[in-house]
Amino acid sequence: MKSNIIIANWKMNHSFDDVEPWITKFNQKIENSNLNSTEIIVCPPAILLDYFDEILLEEEFKILEKKGEDVEDLSQEDLEKMTSEIRKINLGAQNCSSHESGSFTGEISAKMISDSGCKYVIIGHSERRKCSNESDNIVKEKILISLKNKLIPILCIGEDLQIRDQKDHLNFIKTQLNNSIPKNQEIEDFIVAYEPIWSIGTGKTPTLEQISEAANFIQKELAGNIDFKIKNLRIIYGGSTNKENSREITSIKNVNGLLVGGSSLDVDEFASISLSVEES
Ligand code: PGA
Repeated sequence: MKSNIIIANWKMNHSFDDVEPWITKFNQKIENSNLNSTEIIVCPPAILLDYFDEILLEEEFKILEKKGEDVEDLSQEDLEKMTSEIRKINLGAQNCSSHESGSFTGEISAKMISDSGCKYVIIGHSERRKCSNESDNIVKEKILISLKNKLIPILCIGEDLQIRDQKDHLNFIKTQLNNSIPKNQEIEDFIVAYEPIWSIGTGKTPTLEQISEAANFIQKELAGNIDFKIKNLRIIYGGSTNKENSREITSIKNVNGLLVGGSSLDVDEFASISLSVEES
């Protein structure tokens, strides 16, 4: 059995009032199952990150207290160690600035994201590439700055329908990989999400063969190129995933998980996806 990562990308949805019920319900749903080989990551809007982390900590304190630990008496270091051992959901951001700090109104730095309890950051999502004109070069700068701030990048790549119809999709993703992943840089953990634009939010998913072709291609491109020095590479798929198709997609060789948009908003659906993937 391989290990998978399931990432919820809430995009610009949900608010403060939704965080606690979502977490409580998710924990209830997975309570009696061992999500041993599946890692869950939630990427809420940036303004909710700190609060999300706070609620996770509250839940963890309750679990520790039930186990007889006196949370008040523990040192900060012990508390962090114990809560991270029982943490079921890791946090990720949906974007970060390509700059360290400074006069960039409205932007959020990788350090701020890391300080909010995040382990991961999504970079180069097609919606950002489109709405904010993010080029591969900017994406590369964002990857560099996240690595510097100990965040694990989740790089999104994928072609639009026109490129797919022209059968130029492999060339297209090759260029995206080559232009946006820093070369000659030792990278410990890295995630590539293959997200064909034509499948995002459309209800259209590629065939299993098409996903497999892309995942194998990405694997070969990054493992077979001496310029890339990635120790732990994970390739995931994103685009119109749901509880019906999640298991078969994650059964594909070289696919190590899913980036889930719309279906992550409904906690029942997201929990079902997570549980079905655990069995794949
Ligand atoms: P979707 O979005 O699951 O709603 O298609 C996926 C994504 O954009 O990450």
